[in-house]
Amino acid sequence: MSEAKYPVKRGGEYDFDIDKLAFGGAGIARVDNYVVFIKDTLPGDKVKARITRRKPSFAEARLLEIIKPSPMRQHPPCKYHQWCGGCTWQNLSYENQVKIKRQLVEESIQHIAGIQKSTVCPVIESDSAFAYRNKMEFSFTDKRWLLPEELGKADIKPGFALGLHVPGTFDKIIKIDHCLLQSDTANRILRSVSDFCMGKKLQAYGLKTHQGLLRFLVIRQSRYNGKIMVNIVTAYEEENILKQLALKLTEEFPEVESVVNNINSRPAQIARGEREIVLAGKSYIQEKLGDFIFNISANSFFQTNSAQAEKMYKKVLEFSELSGKEFVWDLYCGTGTFSLFLAAQAKKITGFDVEASAIQDAAENARNHQVFNAGFIEGDLLHTLASVKEKPDVIITDPPRAGMHEKVVRLILSASPRRLVYISCNPATLARDLNILSEQYAIDKVQPLDMFPQTYHIETIVQLTKRSVDFVR
Ligand SMILES: C[S@@+](CC[C@H](N)C(=O)[O-])C[C@H]1O[C@@H](n2cnc3c(N)ncnc32)[C@H](O)[C@@H]1O
Repeated sequence: MSEAKYPVKRGGEYDFDIDKLAFGGAGIARVDNYVVFIKDTLPGDKVKARITRRKPSFAEARLLEIIKPSPMRQHPPCKYHQWCGGCTWQNLSYENQVKIKRQLVEESIQHIAGIQKSTVCPVIESDSAFAYRNKMEFSFTDKRWLLPEELGKADIKPGFALGLHVPGTFDKIIKIDHCLLQSDTANRILRSVSDFCMGKKLQAYGLKTHQGLLRFLVIRQSRYNGKIMVNIVTAYEEENILKQLALKLTEEFPEVESVVNNINSRPAQIARGEREIVLAGKSYIQEKLGDFIFNISANSFFQTNSAQAEKMYKKVLEFSELSGKEFVWDLYCGTGTFSLFLAAQAKKITGFDVEASAIQDAAENARNHQVFNAGFIEGDLLHTLASVKEKPDVIITDPPRAGMHEKVVRLILSASPRRLVYISCNPATLARDLNILSEQYAIDKVQPLDMFPQTYHIETIVQLTKRSVDFVR
């Protein structure tokens, strides 16, 4: 596009009317069909914004002023909303959030996969719009990032803090006293840990200095029995002082059933340790989904919204339409939760995952629940799918955000199951993969499910059926 043909200039300031939201949460405005993405805006807003990036097909702009707010706007209940990266959609009512999430799924599959939007069912809503998370991860910092109202206040010190990140940054952490996505007890634990560490003058790990003890605090709470695991992630061992903290927590909070210390001595900022010390109680807590009780240890993957996860597993079972005679493949099986849910209705289930620890957990979960018709195979799907003799009647697939490798999609097509159930956390990669699968499969049902209220994230469960009329196995 020549300079003269661009409808906006880099650095230029313009008024825009926001049309709708894109997946990722930015508002979309159009200037003669040229798309401009503007963060922190909502459909119906009239705004002033400055162009920060310009490409042939779109531009990005920074919000300068809301000239006229959208009627959709509401006051966000969280005091950190403007600064914390956790839940950017708090300024939308829950009703509007699910309406927009459904539109995003409809538009992706309609535009990218060319499928009629009428196939998309209304979103399965979350019963709780707040306090729905069973796990929250907070970061320690030696350089607290101050909010504008905290600047210059004598009682607010810029050093140590325990809190959450400013969106898009790895080093800006604001102090959080109360997060609306977790329970009140979990919030009291957050404050208690913060006070203890400040009182004892413990040092947070510095991202630049690589010195200091404290890295993360992870709080996990079971919906099933209310019990709590506190995981303190440190850069090195400091058992004496951490045992004092564990004792304080177990005395103050009867819900605390497990306090563990994961030690991550490597520079990578991850809340997973090379080794773990149990400071008090057990090394796991228990969660129940359907008829299954799972032991969850600090480093195990587990869906973070238990109530919605249960609805998702039930929907996958319904969409699988099993009769007890089928061979089923559970691709990207993780710890095998789908396999367990489906096992009683299938002849045999084979789960596949690249993570050795997930495969071990899956096998153990199956043994603990006396599920004898499920087996699990470790390795990259690109190599492991071809190794299974029995061809599947039904395939369940739950890939990461990036979707499936095209070769895996082709391997599914050549395995030729009668039915496919695709679970996705990213409408764009879902639509891309459906586009290929629809060469041979009809898309029967598309069911969005809201696992993460207050955020733009949306899960989608899709049922597909092999198209050929004379298909017989
Ligand atoms: C979204 S999680 C699925 C979780 C699981 N279905 C559940 O509900 O608990 C995606 C999984 O894909 C696995 N994975 C990622 N790439 C893979 C690959 N190339 N081959 C096999 N598994 C892979 C990850 O280890 C992870 O467990």
